[in-house]
Amino acid sequence: MRILAIETSCDETAAAIVDNGRVVVAQALSSSENLHKETGGIIPERAARQQIKSITYILEKVLKEVKKDTLDAIAVTVGPGLIGSLLVGVETAKALSIVWGLPLIPVNHLHGHLFSSWIGTDSPPEFPLVGLVISGGHTDLVYMKDKDTLKWIGGTRDDAAGEAFDKTARIIGLPYPGGPAIAEAAKHFRDSHLDEKYNLFPRPMISSGDLDMSFSGLKTAVLNYTKSNQVDLVSPEINRLAAEIETAIIDVIVTKLVAAANQYKPLSVVVGGGVIANNELRRKLDDTFTKSFPNIKLFMPGIYNTDNAVMIAAAAFYTGRPKTLTNITALPELSIEKTA
Ligand code: KG4
Ligand code: ZN
Repeated sequence: MRILAIETSCDETAAAIVDNGRVVVAQALSSSENLHKETGGIIPERAARQQIKSITYILEKVLKEVKKDTLDAIAVTVGPGLIGSLLVGVETAKALSIVWGLPLIPVNHLHGHLFSSWIGTDSPPEFPLVGLVISGGHTDLVYMKDKDTLKWIGGTRDDAAGEAFDKTARIIGLPYPGGPAIAEAAKHFRDSHLDEKYNLFPRPMISSGDLDMSFSGLKTAVLNYTKSNQVDLVSPEINRLAAEIETAIIDVIVTKLVAAANQYKPLSVVVGGGVIANNELRRKLDDTFTKSFPNIKLFMPGIYNTDNAVMIAAAAFYTGRPKTLTNITALPELSIEKTA
């Protein structure tokens, strides 16, 4: 089954053509990240305007490589996300579905992040599994008995993990998006301070005994620290703070994922979302799971972690159902437990 997927939930405009949820035939992506660097964060209106400009060009790019007659269905992210951005993808997909007479599959963006571990592998995750989505807007832990049965088991009560990276980066003078910027600065520090212990900032809710998380206290702690110590935000100090912030966020994520694995004893653990691009987090998870859970297979997508359309095609193939066009609409507040 060959699916053309469209993803425009945040600041990316992406399209992909994927066979059977696993084989990438074509893909294209453009991001308005540079626009948001100027403002230190996403301005939804600017993102949507850019997506309106990019969408036809991105579709043209993927369709250059594949004959449209070979497509079996179209998939589109309907939520969660920014309303203006989602509408660009949803309305484009509806128009294509009408003109080409192809079924349209609405997809929950967060399910896309979960199913990104299925792409390009011959030995995909096995159920039951524990899934963790760590992105710019969401931090959710789920238990999946099978591909269609998903239960929310924990997550952030305030800021998402990616949001914590983005907001603290801004406080210490690093550009948007904060995750990659903090990771790079932190690496500089770690490389020259091999035995450093990082405990400057709190790990909120790390010992709460449940699977919930909280990251907004970290942001406040970083702000208070930089203000009350009148920290000079020059590069060695920025690098040190970046390593402290990165470690605090990672400690919370690893601890909660380990707790979920202990509690649910799954066959696989899958992690998706932009934050799993973080090398330090990947290293710690790899290390922890190899040592403590030799019977659980850990999946962390290497390339399809930040937003893309390939993962939307994967989720559409494995769990999606076509709907009539009148029942397909942008759902900015969609939660991970809901099917699109
Ligand atoms: O999944 P994603 O591309 O978009 C959303 O669905 O939100 O995730 C974007 C988030 C941003 O907060 C960004 O700072 C974070 O992922 N991110 C990272 C890294 N690369 C992206 N966080 C930590 N380390 C990274 N290397
Ligand atoms: Zn995402």
